Amino acid sequence: MKFFVDTADTQEIADLAETGLLDGVTTNPSLIAKSGRDFMEVTREICGIVDGPVSAEVVALDHAGMMREAEILRKIADNVCIKVPLTVDGLKTCKKLTSDGTMVNVTLCFSANQALLAAKAGATFISPFVGRHDDNGFDGMALINDIRLIYDNYAFATEILVASVRHPIHVLESAKIGADVATMPPSVIRSLFKHVLTDKGIEGFLADWAKTGQSI
Ligand code: G3P
Repeated sequence: MKFFVDTADTQEIADLAETGLLDGVTTNPSLIAKSGRDFMEVTREICGIVDGPVSAEVVALDHAGMMREAEILRKIADNVCIKVPLTVDGLKTCKKLTSDGTMVNVTLCFSANQALLAAKAGATFISPFVGRHDDNGFDGMALINDIRLIYDNYAFATEILVASVRHPIHVLESAKIGADVATMPPSVIRSLFKHVLTDKGIEGFLADWAKTGQSI
């Protein structure tokens, strides 16, 4: 499973990229606003930090406007992935851009039928929002299961990019289902490394090693 980080904080992205485990980045207008930085400038910087796809989201709601914004965004770098909302105009834009060879991430997916439409429109990635689904009394992971089943039934190449991930259990369940990607806040990625028994084990080993008086 690929790991993307869901942030526009370039320091966090650079730190996580150093682990060698980061496969891409997703941003959205809220994350750009949180960074307090210029959209084009921060996106260009992120594209230089990671080799993998960097999702940059359009804000126009109509097809012509989305195409105009996508033209600007895709010139930033070869690894820009245009993010469009799951609407009729968003999917028209997805079809057009992917047929030209541009990567597209279809976002704000909350049903398996929406994911089916995105795959038919040639989406590179579909982004079902599991956390927001859970928040509203639905089962986010059941949605991922349904999308996996449908995509496998028809051998769709669209990758399932689990978004709105809130905790490590979302990541674990996504991996068990066979989702292609999880995009996570930096804190969730860092939490995957942690286990209290790992820390305790290191502490014990180092205490015993100190007793030997040796060094390597
Ligand atoms: O980038 C899309 C998604 O991951 C947003 O997550 O936590 O705002 O629901 P969240």
